[in-house]
Amino acid sequence: MVSLKFVFCFLLVTSCTYATIVSHDGRAITIDGHRRVLLSGSIHYPRSTPEMWPDLIKKGKEGGLDAIETYVFWNAHEPTRRQYDFSGNLDLIRFLKSIQDEGMYGVLRIGPYVCAEWNYGGFPVWLHNMPEIEFRTSNTAFMNEMQNFTTMIVDMVKKEKLFASQGGPIILAQIENEYGNVIASYGAAGKAYIQWCANMAQSLDVGVPWIMCQQDDAPQPMLNTCNGWYCDNFEPNNPNTPKMWTENWTGWYKNWGGKNPHRTTEDVAFAVARFFQRGGTFQNYYMYHGGTNFDRTSGGPYITTSYDYDAPLDEYGNLNQPKYGHLKQLHDVLHSMEKILTHGNISTVDFGNQVTATVYKTEDGSSCFIGNVNETSDATINFQGTSYDVPAWSVSIIPDCKTETYNTAKINAQTSVMVKKPNEAENEPSTLKWSWRPENIDNVLLKGKGESTVSQLFDQKVVSNDESDYLWYMTRVNLKEQDPVWGKNMTLRINSTAHVLHAFVNGQHIGNYRVENGKFHYVFEQDAKFNLGANVITLLSITVGLPNYGPFFENVPAGITGPVFIIGRNGDETVVKDLSSHKWSYKTGLSGFENQLFSSESPSTWSGESVPFNRTMTWYKTTFKAPLGNEPVVVDLLGLGKGTAWINGNNIGRYWPAFLAGTDGCSAGCDYRGAYFAEKCQTQCGEPTQRWYHVPRSFLNSEGDNTLVLFEEIGGNPSLVNFQTIRVGSVCANVYEKNVLELSCNGKPISAIKFASFGNPGGNCGSFEIGTCEASNNAAAILTKECVGKEKCYVDVSEDKFGAPDCGGAAKRLAVEAMC
Ligand code: GAL
Repeated sequence: MVSLKFVFCFLLVTSCTYATIVSHDGRAITIDGHRRVLLSGSIHYPRSTPEMWPDLIKKGKEGGLDAIETYVFWNAHEPTRRQYDFSGNLDLIRFLKSIQDEGMYGVLRIGPYVCAEWNYGGFPVWLHNMPEIEFRTSNTAFMNEMQNFTTMIVDMVKKEKLFASQGGPIILAQIENEYGNVIASYGAAGKAYIQWCANMAQSLDVGVPWIMCQQDDAPQPMLNTCNGWYCDNFEPNNPNTPKMWTENWTGWYKNWGGKNPHRTTEDVAFAVARFFQRGGTFQNYYMYHGGTNFDRTSGGPYITTSYDYDAPLDEYGNLNQPKYGHLKQLHDVLHSMEKILTHGNISTVDFGNQVTATVYKTEDGSSCFIGNVNETSDATINFQGTSYDVPAWSVSIIPDCKTETYNTAKINAQTSVMVKKPNEAENEPSTLKWSWRPENIDNVLLKGKGESTVSQLFDQKVVSNDESDYLWYMTRVNLKEQDPVWGKNMTLRINSTAHVLHAFVNGQHIGNYRVENGKFHYVFEQDAKFNLGANVITLLSITVGLPNYGPFFENVPAGITGPVFIIGRNGDETVVKDLSSHKWSYKTGLSGFENQLFSSESPSTWSGESVPFNRTMTWYKTTFKAPLGNEPVVVDLLGLGKGTAWINGNNIGRYWPAFLAGTDGCSAGCDYRGAYFAEKCQTQCGEPTQRWYHVPRSFLNSEGDNTLVLFEEIGGNPSLVNFQTIRVGSVCANVYEKNVLELSCNGKPISAIKFASFGNPGGNCGSFEIGTCEASNNAAAILTKECVGKEKCYVDVSEDKFGAPDCGGAAKRLAVEAMC
């Protein structure tokens, strides 16, 4: 074959850069002329720290991925128009270079609209406040800004030679994101916009293909790709382009008030295997590592700080087993079939009852899949002279069309049970010692004086540019005895879209409100004590992440949009006084934020005396020693209400343990069979939505003191707060015979075998039981010898090793529970 590599060598420079030609043909993405089976995983750089990136990426590679995918987060990089930030965890180039260092490919989804459960879908809020702007349509102001940012990112990446065409890792780039889902709402202007997006992207000349996900009418040469829990039915709009899956949702995200979503390992594997059975060649996990929404980056409204997503790597970067291991085995099998999958002629055999075999055949050999899409009935299939047991909702992979090496519903990978351990740092007292300060709100409460005054109620985005969650709306009202509204029973009524609202009249807190069950437009009404003469009404509107999805989501109102009324009731007469076009004074943010109380160096005075509990608008501060070792650290904020937490001045995000998840819709077990949906397998009903908050190791001083500062908004009790580390407590496996048991305690030695049986053991991890048949050799003794004291062990699961139990011809399994 003719070499397609271009070689760039520079005079007097010893090294050469090999440009990689990335292209596609009807079947697959080709890299230097070779058709590829590409497995990829999303890791969003701002949702972890640069110190974590190499490890996360390495785990991706070890998990059998070829590529790492990330979005680019416009609002984080351009917080103020034409002022850019690529520092710390926003160092996109460093992230891309970490991918390159690991020898992996990169997929760069610039968007710059990203959705992603990210604040405002990645749009800067200043964009909303530009004159005559309309988002994601043929609007000059919008297109100019989008082009400016996209071009800048492309130029930065080009400068570092990171596109494959320049010898770098990036093999694909994305423009826009799922616009096809909303295009109908934009009419002809939407069609023109997507054409413009395609032309603009193409003009940037990146030298690698561009993708547009969920875009049925993607203009050529954009590749349209699929997002969802299943994409086996997807066909690209141009049949001469490969079938590609940019987002295979490995789980789901969580809202405040929501439960913990889980998507089973069997179902994720099923979806992937099905996709490759049906001609797919590129698949990306969204997310492979979800991570953490630090600071104010979570979207929504109401996305939690944790973005764990039940991904193969958990929020902290630990292997989420068995998901990680079962998918790794799948990747290895698919890669082993790359040549045949990408060149073979495809034929299918229908066995009825939703069972089909697919044969990929080349001159050199064949590979087969048998898929059983039936949700309830297992199938025994006689195929080319061999009998295969294919459980319901599973796919068997038979690389040589003779011996099954993988079935999506038969998990041989270990399960890891994660545990939290208390902080064992030396001299760490069991309870932390707190000092506190009140948030200074007297000025806003009693004087009602802000930074600007307008005779109108404004959307929060317009006034505050989203520089803070907090916006004060204040007005003064003079009441006279003759006022028709004046009377005994007076209330304040507020039509609001504030995610959380606090209302004060003459300095008295008359009540607060939080949105529940997604009802973001509501009426809040409370009794209030008004005075004859001057009154000050102070309303605090709080956002908890701006929306990130849907047509025109950028215009969804935020804040107190009004009207605001005083209601007087005299007998059966109700009098309404509309304050909406009164003079409203506005103030963005809180004084403690302005004074940087969260900074470790803050000179402000804090009191260690009479530390109050359940006091609204209160700052708390403590010091602690970093937990020993290198395991991930979390802070347990049980007992607190709602607010923000900082570690050594680093904002670790919004906390809200007082928000309990709803009580219905959880299930202990979870049937992997049948199509997944977000509410299918949930846990944590009735418990705090999120109790533990990730403290990246790089935020901590390993020697000396660390500072934790909390701003508590609704009132809470910090006395239970403590730091913990997360580690593997025990591991289990339930391995079919003729496979290899692989046990690992993630770098710690295996300390004991708690249970082992070869035969037909029952139960689950933590509750295994001996079955009706069991081999005579002592399985626990064998495993103790081969595994205890080691960080990892591999054991052949065979009758030779464990003895031959009489299980009446049924497949035998080895169940093990080991302590770490
Ligand atoms: C998709 C979107 C992603 C993410 C996902 C849900 O529609 O493209 O960015 O929001 O949904 O997690």
